[in-house]
Formats: sequence, C-alpha cells, structure tokens
Amino acid sequence: MSERHQSGSHPSTAVLTRGFDPRLSVGSARPAVFRSSTYVFSSPEAAERAFDLLSGRAKPEPGEAVDLIYSRFNHPNAQILEDQIVPLEEGSQWAVVFNSGMAAIMTTLLACVGQGGAIVHTAPLYGGTQNLLHKFFEPIGVRCVPVVAGRGAELDQAILTTEGLRVVLIETPANPTMVMTDIRRAALTAARVEPKPVVMVDNTFLGPAFQHPIVHGADVVLYSATKYLGGFSDLLAGVAIGVDAGLEAAVRSRRGLYGNILQPDECWILDGRLPTVSLRMNRQSKNAQRIAEGLARRTEVRKVYYPTLFDDPEQIRVRLSQTDYPGAMIAIDLEGGKRAAFEFLRSLKLAHNAVSLGGMETLACHPKTTTHSGCSAVELEIAGITDGLVRISVGVEDWRDLMRDMEQALAAAAAVKT
Ligand SMILES: Cc1ncc(COP(=O)(O)O)c(C=O)c1O
Repeated sequence: MSERHQSGSHPSTAVLTRGFDPRLSVGSARPAVFRSSTYVFSSPEAAERAFDLLSGRAKPEPGEAVDLIYSRFNHPNAQILEDQIVPLEEGSQWAVVFNSGMAAIMTTLLACVGQGGAIVHTAPLYGGTQNLLHKFFEPIGVRCVPVVAGRGAELDQAILTTEGLRVVLIETPANPTMVMTDIRRAALTAARVEPKPVVMVDNTFLGPAFQHPIVHGADVVLYSATKYLGGFSDLLAGVAIGVDAGLEAAVRSRRGLYGNILQPDECWILDGRLPTVSLRMNRQSKNAQRIAEGLARRTEVRKVYYPTLFDDPEQIRVRLSQTDYPGAMIAIDLEGGKRAAFEFLRSLKLAHNAVSLGGMETLACHPKTTTHSGCSAVELEIAGITDGLVRISVGVEDWRDLMRDMEQALAAAAAVKT
C-alpha cells in the first residue's frame, strides 16, 4: 500500500489520523464508545435540517456540521470507522459499515437491482452469497447469470448480452480454489453497456492489503470485515466501499431502512484493528507462501491451489497485474479423498478445524461438506471442489510449527487410506 490517499498521507498514516477528533471524546487518545441510541438536537431548526439531509430533500453545504439523529441511521463510532477505512481502499471516497458481510452484500445489491433487473456473477461465490442470489434475489424477480471464474471471454459475453443488467458481481480469488477474475477487463466491458451496470468486487480474500479493485475500474468493493479486517475471529462486520456519491446515498438510505448498521461497540473494536491489518496480512501471506510451496512437494497432496503455484499463463498474468502478494488462503486436494481429508483435519494439533478465515490463528475446513455443501454436484465439479479438498486459512503462528503440524497430519491421513 504505497499509494497516497488524497489527504496527502499514506494509508498507514491516514488510518491512524483521519476521522477522529480527541476533543469530541474529552481528550481521550482512543475514541469513546457512544452507545446512545438517540441524539439531542442543538435546536428544532437543526433537527429539521438533519431530517431534510437524511431524506435527500436537501444537499449539505461544504463543511456543514449536521446534528446526529438516531443510531440506526448513523452514530459517531460508525462515522470514525468509515472515515478510517477509506484510505485503506485505494481510490475510494466512502465506506458504509454493516453488522455482517452478508448485510453489506445484500444491502448494496438491493440499492442497485430490483424486480426485472439482472446480476451477472462469477461462480463459485461464497456459499452465503450464492444462497442470497438463489433464495432471495431470484424469487423477487432478479435474474442471476453465473459465469465460471477465470473464463474472461464468457464473462464479457454475459455482460454484453444479459438484458436488464444492473450489477456485475465478482469474487476474486474464488473460494476455495483461488481462481482469479480480471477486474479491469470486466469493468471495461461493463463500461460498454448502457446504462452501465455497477461492478462490485468481494475483496474479502486479498483486501485491503493486496488487491485494490477500484484502481482496476470496480465501482464498489465489498468485505466480510469478520475476516482480515477484524482479524481475531471475534466479531461479525461488513463494509461496502465506493466512489459515486449517489450510490453511497442509496446504500446509506437502505441501511437506515433495514436497520443493519454495525453497532458502536463492534465499530470501536474494528476501528482498533485497522492499523494492523496490513501487518497481519503480510505475515500471514509470507507464512502461507512457505507452507503452500512445502505442501506442493508432498506426495500425499495431489494439488495445491495457491496463487504463486498457478500454472495457467492467463491466471499468472491476472495475478501479476492485479494483486501485490498471494495472500494466506490455500486449498489442498489430498490423495485418498474424503477419508484422507477428514483424517487430516482430525490430526491437526495446532490448526483448528473451523470455517471462516482471516484470523490470527490457522483454521482448516472441508469445503464440500461445510462451506460449499449447498452447491449442486455440477457446481462442485465446475468449481473443482472435490472430496479430498481441504481449505486452510493461515495465521500468524511460526510457519515452521504449522508446517510440521500439517506434515504429521498428512502422514496420518496417508495411513488411513492404506
Ligand atoms: C468471500 C466472503 N464474502 C462474504 C462473506 C460473508 O461474510 P459474513 O460472514 O461476515 O456475513 C464471507 C464469509 O465467510 C466470505 O468468505
């Protein structure tokens, strides 16, 4: 993250200096937590003005101070957090925080598409997002058109030919096999469609440290902040980040309606995690690269899915043009199928068998029977999610200990097979 934010500071400085005025927290060096659900107006006129601005009946004057209203719409801890997230996502102008990643995805999609509209999306998506499209958006009359991740020409074709297209939803790298989608190519193709669909990228796996979708032409970046942004597997949160002010207003107004803003305590916790997200992700990525390359040498492992081990020239090109470092997610396909995968998970002593990712501790899971158990046989086959596939989220432990742990678990898995 070497680019400077428009404030003139680099992201690692801006994240510690923007958005928080100690004078508003009685001089406290860290923000106070403002748990109040409602705010006292400075005058009835100020209350009227605040509601006019909230509803879009009026536009704020430059530098105008607006009274807070009610914490379902906004509160100081959300404002501080949102201001501090912006410099982490290069090219962005705004951030809106939610009480989960799913809330961020649902609310942002609903701000852009309704009955009669269409979403083109990469596949596979995170299982929850996939369910959201099938179980909510399709029944309300939104057409959802999947394109297998990594097939650029098919994505172009779907973007150019889908009637009523409102959103292009990209998850890159794809979970769990790390297949990448070229964001710039998709954004350039979307720009040829009238009216231009909103290009959204779920950046949970590599952002905000290693991939900056807005720089590559995306309109909106979505996060499960439960993962790397939160970093300790101890809170649920989501963020939508973007550039266009009209879209920001639409997303904020939906959040106020649905009541899914992130609560003050969670905002405060997450805000304290932001300055270290890059440090943590760098350490996790270095660990993961060493482990992935070590696992690739093991005979018990049929294939390792990890960005530095890509063999397809187009995937290598996309990785080099769009990402800074490979990240900390690895998938391994074990000889011996499900029995071997389960025995591997059972035998791990340091890594825990759990879903989720991005925390300080190493986690491993069996996608076919957990995160992706809702996928059809065809979807699993296309996504390369086999019986022997194990997904690993590498933490910040010493990589040599993790490697030893995985080697003994591989040996245990191989013994069960025979
Ligand atoms: C890529 C991705 N997007 C979105 C989500 C949903 O986030 P949350 O669990 O915070 O609602 C997840 C959760 O695992 C995810 O992995």
